[in-house]
Amino acid sequence: MTTDPARDNPLGDTREQTLEQHRHIRQLAERLGDAADLVQLLQRLQEFRSAAVLHFGDEEAPEGFFEVVRSRAGRHLDKLQHLEREHQAFLGEIDGLAERARAVLAGPVAELLRLAGELARQLNDHEARENELLLDALYLDLGEES
Ligand SMILES: [Fe+2]
Repeated sequence: MTTDPARDNPLGDTREQTLEQHRHIRQLAERLGDAADLVQLLQRLQEFRSAAVLHFGDEEAPEGFFEVVRSRAGRHLDKLQHLEREHQAFLGEIDGLAERARAVLAGPVAELLRLAGELARQLNDHEARENELLLDALYLDLGEES
């Protein structure tokens, strides 16, 4: 006699595995929603997408969660079809957001950083010219005094 729940109760195992994956996915979703900037958002989108592809694949697999519900509770067929369509839609939205974030980083953000670099060079040059003036004036003053 075995005490392995997966061998004694494969449906219970599917349920536990799915619930555990949902806990993980929801944690990643929360991190995704808390991203502080676009670089972090891109990292978290990638992280979420990788986990979601595996998770959605498990749910849609021949013996996965969706098939278990389909075979045991046919009254939920409409909901299953809707949830399955949402999987594809979510992946599409993740890809769309990542593409927009990359475009903003490569376009407006890169341009602002370039302008900041230019401003920094101008400020540096300004201070350098003031130094030259100051040293020159002091040198001339000292020269006149001596
Ligand atoms: Fe799920």
